Amino acid sequence: MGAVAERPSSDLPSRMWNAVWRPTPGSLRLLALFGVIGNVLIVVSGGAVRVTQSGLGCPDWPRCSGDSLVPTHDPDHPLLNMSIEFGNRLVTFVVLTAGLLVFIAALRLRPRRKELVWWALAQPMSVVAQAIIGGIVVLTKLHPAAVSLHFLVSPALLVFCVALWVRAGEGDAPALRLAGPWTRGLTAALLASCAAVLIAGTVVTGTGPHAGDADSRRYGFDITEVARVHSVLAWVTAGLTVAVLIALHQTGAPAAARRRGHELAALIVLQGAVGYLQYFLGVPEGLVLLHMLGSVLMWIAAFRLFFALRDRGGVPVAAVTAPPEPSELPAPSDEPEASGRRGARTGSGPSPAGNPQPA
Ligand code: HEM
Repeated sequence: MGAVAERPSSDLPSRMWNAVWRPTPGSLRLLALFGVIGNVLIVVSGGAVRVTQSGLGCPDWPRCSGDSLVPTHDPDHPLLNMSIEFGNRLVTFVVLTAGLLVFIAALRLRPRRKELVWWALAQPMSVVAQAIIGGIVVLTKLHPAAVSLHFLVSPALLVFCVALWVRAGEGDAPALRLAGPWTRGLTAALLASCAAVLIAGTVVTGTGPHAGDADSRRYGFDITEVARVHSVLAWVTAGLTVAVLIALHQTGAPAAARRRGHELAALIVLQGAVGYLQYFLGVPEGLVLLHMLGSVLMWIAAFRLFFALRDRGGVPVAAVTAPPEPSELPAPSDEPEASGRRGARTGSGPSPAGNPQPA
């Protein structure tokens, strides 16, 4: 008996319902992409809180102020700051909902792929962790270390989101390496240096003027020195990106991997330019937000490059169709069931072309 075709639903709510309750690898991938976008948005909305000095707009947590969960009139806290901080808290709920939906979809996908379930579970869990750290930020009156940690959880969470997004679009075959040990080693070093730039960036922020509130504590370093360390690390990252690109071209790496490398290189050039511009212009708010957005986009691009260096085969065949509702099950038949080829490299999903290299 052939697989039951998915009944096309015309209206958006039932399509959304199907995407979660009767997921296909494609719909799971789309939900995972929403998770990636939601986490990028939360970085930018968190940045907006900081640069508008709204960090203590809601002076309490989990309540906004006094007994109220939402912004109310408070003589010490302007309504605009309160609303900006409250808006950022609301984005957390959106991201949490996206995380829960993607987790349900990963659980419902047939055949169930355990690894996807774990990546998906990490998302709502980390949003909860992020909400708690957000609370610590407020309760420590924006201590710079808490603010740094609050930012850095987002790139960490994005690792889960990107992993799910990528893995939902490929199979479970043993990883076939598409690049040699040198290229892989350089890419691992590139990821480490990206992480170092992000960490150093938060130290620059925690030393500079954008504390999130006029009276909150700073790290107390020399701003020129920390900005220098941060920009040197950015140059190291740029150098490693060039080295990876050369290695990809010289070893005939797959076109997809080279494309990911070019995307990353373009983002680093833009990010570096914004970084210098904001430094020399005295960190204007708009550029700070753009720099924050660029930092997470770069991080995502670096992980996509990392994943493009191996092939896990096409999506398992049986997972291509959604599990049917009981009412849609066909009448029993004597024909044998079509069995899914879990992890088959010949599955229906795209498989990157290139020169596979031995480990
Ligand atoms: C690979 C490129 C770069 C990345 C990924 C990056 C990333 C970051 C991150 C994550 C932050 C902290 C954001 C926050 O805590 O809210 C930051 C802050 C900062 N970065 Fe970069 N950066 C890069 C290059 C540069 C360069 C070349 C400069 C030039 C000096 C620069 C100047 C700054 C400054 C001045 C801040 C503090 C902004 C503020 O006060 O809010 N960055 N960067």
